Amino acid sequence: MADTNAKLTVNGEEYELPIIEGTLGRPVIDVAALQESGFWSYDPGFKVTAPVESKITYIDGGKGELLHRGYPIDELANHAEYLEVAYALLNGELPNAEQKADFFEKIREHTAVHDQLRKFFEGFRRDAHPMAIMVGVVGALSAFYHDNLDLSNEEHREITAIRLIAKMPTLAAMSYKYSQGEPFMYPRNDFSYAENFLYMMFATPADVDYEPNDVVTRAMDKIFTLHADHEQNASTSTVRLAGSTGANPYACIAAGIAALWGPSHGGANEAVLEMLDEIGTVENVPAFMEKVKSREVKLMGFGHRVYKNFDPRAKVMKETCDEVLEALGVNDPKLELAMALEKIALEDPFFIERNLYPNVDFYSGIILKAIGIPTSMFTVIFALARTSGWISHLLEMHSAPYKIGRPRQLYTGETRRDFVKVEDRK
Ligand code: SDX
Repeated sequence: MADTNAKLTVNGEEYELPIIEGTLGRPVIDVAALQESGFWSYDPGFKVTAPVESKITYIDGGKGELLHRGYPIDELANHAEYLEVAYALLNGELPNAEQKADFFEKIREHTAVHDQLRKFFEGFRRDAHPMAIMVGVVGALSAFYHDNLDLSNEEHREITAIRLIAKMPTLAAMSYKYSQGEPFMYPRNDFSYAENFLYMMFATPADVDYEPNDVVTRAMDKIFTLHADHEQNASTSTVRLAGSTGANPYACIAAGIAALWGPSHGGANEAVLEMLDEIGTVENVPAFMEKVKSREVKLMGFGHRVYKNFDPRAKVMKETCDEVLEALGVNDPKLELAMALEKIALEDPFFIERNLYPNVDFYSGIILKAIGIPTSMFTVIFALARTSGWISHLLEMHSAPYKIGRPRQLYTGETRRDFVKVEDRK
């Protein structure tokens, strides 16, 4: 019979710490009683800390399993559209035919952005990184959409989710067009979500009849699904922490975009392509691996805090990569280089001992490059797709009582000392 309580004995006192079981995965030990103990729990990087309860996504890092509302990621990526997955993340179930039609229509109705936003873009230099633009523009959305900001109101929660999911592709494409010095393309509501994004990215006023390739469109939609949500990762935790202060939803999503940008997180897809460029050819792989083992560099696109097995998303991404390159007749030497890197790493004790496998970012960049998307846009696409996950977690938090997130610390600074006048300081 499993214990229902953990016991902590410290300084002659015994504390009963309740054990709480979930539906899947590790149970948790409620450490609230530490408040009376005179101690804090200490867990840099939150390696063993579960700050929330959630029903949205489950990851089994040992098995390499990822479920969204119980549905396996490979089945969702191969059989559902991204917007169906977004609906499930938000509502708990995949939509039936009527719910799907209604949700898709609502998204189509909100793909346009306030026309004044076009001037907002003009404040950036043309060579601004698109992620810098996205952090700024999404953070400013509450200045354009003053209504429906009260997430304690269910109707406000619903329209905010629709607006953000609908407008991210438009803003992402605008950040690309701005960097290219090309005019913005308005959304086309006769296109699907992924088609519309590719249209706004690659159509021009001189080529308004542009229609994206079906294989590329399906691949883009799959890439959105593979990046939609991933439990309490750094950017989602950032969104929840910002949301716990009652900050408006656009500011919370902008905080998530900022956190995602880091090369250890969503910025890794861009870093993978830069790494492959640096390595150049398969002949240079052994020397590069020595730099990795000496900890001079990391093998970008490898390793994961949770997965100590293959990232199930990487498997689908690799299959999609093969499909797109074949459909486009692209023979990218970077794919061969990536495959050589993966093979060597998976057979090397340094990686095996550390359970380092390809993650979602290892192959995504090769597909995006084949589609004609510049590396500077890779993390923007990750942010676009993750918006449905971020907003789902934000709304999950706001749909029940919550407390402001306020971690404590282990203080190792100076003890109390008297003020010293500047003339008396050494
Ligand atoms: C994403 O959290 C999520 O779910 C994120 C994400 C999502 O969907 O939201 O899945 C998306 O961010 C995927 C990860 C993308 N990042 C990268 O590909 C960057 C390269 N990966 C590493 O930076 C690293 O693997 C992390 C940051 C992803 C995870 O780091 P951890 O869990 O803190 O692991 P660690 O740093 O403690 O590493 C353990 C050991 C160390 O070796 P030792 O010092 O113990 O000898 O493994 C080594 C690390 O040096 N190591 C690597 C490595 N990753 C870890 N060595 C070489 N190359 C790597 N990539």
